[in-house]
Amino acid sequence: MKIYAHRGSSGTHPENTIAAFKAAAKLPVHGVEFDVHMTKDHELVVIHDETINRTSNGTGFIKDLTLAELKKIDFGSWYAPKFKQETIPTLREVLYVFKDTHHHLNIELKSDVFPYEGMEQAVLQMLNDYRLEARVVISSFNHEMVRNFKQLAPSIETAVLFMEVMIEPHIYAEKIGADALHAFFPTVLRPMGVEAIASGKNVRVFTVNEEKYTDLLKQVGVDAIFTDYPERMWKYLQS
Ligand code: G3P
Ligand code: CA
Repeated sequence: MKIYAHRGSSGTHPENTIAAFKAAAKLPVHGVEFDVHMTKDHELVVIHDETINRTSNGTGFIKDLTLAELKKIDFGSWYAPKFKQETIPTLREVLYVFKDTHHHLNIELKSDVFPYEGMEQAVLQMLNDYRLEARVVISSFNHEMVRNFKQLAPSIETAVLFMEVMIEPHIYAEKIGADALHAFFPTVLRPMGVEAIASGKNVRVFTVNEEKYTDLLKQVGVDAIFTDYPERMWKYLQS
């Protein structure tokens, strides 16, 4: 079973920062996951929430702030004082960290609350620039975005994200144009998880931070877990 560092090595570093990504880039884990939003001036930035309130010393919505305004804000000391130099990373800066590593990149398009127009095209352009098309999976809770992305770039892997139990999720995924399913942990142990795995689609599970669940997930045939503690979980899965 593979491991994706969720928001970088976010259990031990401020999530979705270059510090968290550089730590993940040193690990022998399969991949890394991160979230993308769009600024007021249409720059792609890596952050989980729609606002900067929880993970910085500033306030406001990403969509209302320019990249220059965001870059003045401290995105590290909310986690620990030693990370006070961390700024919000652009997608380009994060791709640069991983351009020569072995890691598979899960880019989550966070356009479920605000529709970021042109996000799919902008992300695709950046992947082309870095020639990373074969090393990514594009996911979103906004399934329309997944559909759009697949139409734009049929050869790039896509995944639908969902929190709830659903019937025959693999058939749904097929209709959307999603190659894989990224499921909230408890749902995968229900019949839908079993059906999806049996269908041959890759099923990846978020967010698994406790070793005790991994044996069961391995048994049911889950392809990968997303975890905030990639180093610890990797060591456990090796043992
Ligand atoms: O992509 C898996 C997981 O990151 C989805 O949930 O809220 O952590 O972005 P969230
Ligand atoms: Ca995410």
